Amino acid sequence: MRTKILEILRKCPDEYLSGEEISRQLEVSRTAIWKHMQTLKQAGYEIEAHPRRGYRLQNRPDLLLPYEIRETLSSNILGQKEIFYFSDVESTNTEAKKQANLGCAEGTIVLSEAQNKGRGRLSRGWFSPSSKGIWLSIVLRPPFNPYDAPKCTLLAAVAVTKAIRKVTQVECGIKWPNDILYQGKKLVGILTEMSAEIDAINHIVIGMGINVNIEEEEFPEELKEIATSLAMITGREISRLSLLDAVLVELEEAYHKVIQQGFTEMLDEWRQLSVTLGKNVNVIGSGRDFGGLAVDIDQDGALLVQTTECLERVLAGDVSIRPQI
Ligand code: BTN
Repeated sequence: MRTKILEILRKCPDEYLSGEEISRQLEVSRTAIWKHMQTLKQAGYEIEAHPRRGYRLQNRPDLLLPYEIRETLSSNILGQKEIFYFSDVESTNTEAKKQANLGCAEGTIVLSEAQNKGRGRLSRGWFSPSSKGIWLSIVLRPPFNPYDAPKCTLLAAVAVTKAIRKVTQVECGIKWPNDILYQGKKLVGILTEMSAEIDAINHIVIGMGINVNIEEEEFPEELKEIATSLAMITGREISRLSLLDAVLVELEEAYHKVIQQGFTEMLDEWRQLSVTLGKNVNVIGSGRDFGGLAVDIDQDGALLVQTTECLERVLAGDVSIRPQI
């Protein structure tokens, strides 16, 4: 109902619409309309209510509200099913896993303005201040073998990099396996979690944290040197709604291509967008720490690192790119 009220108000941006007119169009009472208007105001919509003329929408909040998302969403599946939206939540990934276990449809998304226990890879936390980023989790039910699941993370990295480049022209790149960096600083983190049987995936939750409008002084001290945001890079505020739409469209396209044609093309795109290949790296957290030259990724998405002794194949862990001297 609230989506419909907003639709009606948006159609006449400069006019007042009487409660009677809106209640007639939607076939509900004027009291019901009044109640919905109060809820919309509480959500942050500036709605002017004139005693004789009626209602007029003055301003929309900069929130990732489902009504706003649906207004612009151009994907076919992702975000078209259920959207779970929170002002504050522990972690959108935790919430998405809960919904996935309850049987939610593929394409369900979970968004929150803030996370109070945002989770990163390797048991790290994720800084998620209110309304400053896109803290998003997407539920997929891919028909792949669980063995192929790590490549979903690479796929998500390719999709979000392309979306950011399209919407903001920021030339960010991918650090293996799935950090999106700009000039060595982290812009996006991706955390993929899976529930599977031996030969089939029940669901995959792809969690993305995109630093959109965080200002430098808002980052905690320990992140100031290593993290950045799109607003810091471009010097302007970026529309989270437009970026969210682009991310969902790119991810959906890439996902369908992989289902139909396999991973080869996506892995090539990953190579082109990579900032790791061709660099000297230190590999940590894969059981043994070592250094070498990152030469390629193989068909499983593993990083191939040439050390002085041999070609190492890295499937898990983290890499840091050694600065050029
Ligand atoms: C990393 O780089 O370590 C991964 C960070 C992933 C953060 C996102 S924010 C939305 C989703 N919910 C979480 O708790 N984590 C992911």
